[in-house]
Amino acid sequence: MKPLSLGVLGSGKGSNFVALAEAIRLGEVPAEIVLVASDRADAAILALARERKMAVYACRRGAFRTKLEPEIERDLAQALASAGVELVVLAGYMRVLKSSLLEKFPGRIINIHPSLLPSFPGLHAWEQALKARVEQTGCTVHWVNEQVDGGSVIRQVKVPVRTGDTPESLHARIQEAEHRLLPEVVRDLAEGRIPWPEDPRR
Ligand code: GAR
Repeated sequence: MKPLSLGVLGSGKGSNFVALAEAIRLGEVPAEIVLVASDRADAAILALARERKMAVYACRRGAFRTKLEPEIERDLAQALASAGVELVVLAGYMRVLKSSLLEKFPGRIINIHPSLLPSFPGLHAWEQALKARVEQTGCTVHWVNEQVDGGSVIRQVKVPVRTGDTPESLHARIQEAEHRLLPEVVRDLAEGRIPWPEDPRR
């Protein structure tokens, strides 16, 4: 079967992208990353993609921090479509998605989030978990819709909160779980073991 074509979007350090790229390189996930894109031209994720000789796309600089201007998001959606992306993977992408991306890739965008959704949506989910004094938190991969961290859950992994945890130590433990969960979900989507709302290959 032809590998699933992925577009990976991230705003930051790109450790989930690296985990996914490594799993693909090792033959564990039947997919190919055809474009790595970021809303920030200086994001580490783009440098990591260039090191791997992957195609990259940086959005033009916009006026807002939390969302992209419609025309900037439209160009991003077009770049992903032109690259032949079948599944968009949000891996630390810190903007709210608007209609261009959602309409171009209906039922074909997943996100990784560092909590057990619906608990602690939004920013700094691990700090929210510490403040709430929960005994466990975790990470979630979910389908993306127009609500922030609101689409249906695909799979979750629980992570314990330990006495003495700092925001950094808890986030690091959650990230270890993320780095296993994201490649697993992409593998199972590529192999048809997780149903798609809209499978491009059907
Ligand atoms: C990850 O923990 C991811 O779950 C989170 O940003 C981090 C990105 O790390 N995403 C969100 O909070 C989205 N709401 P990375 O750049 O090292 O992959």
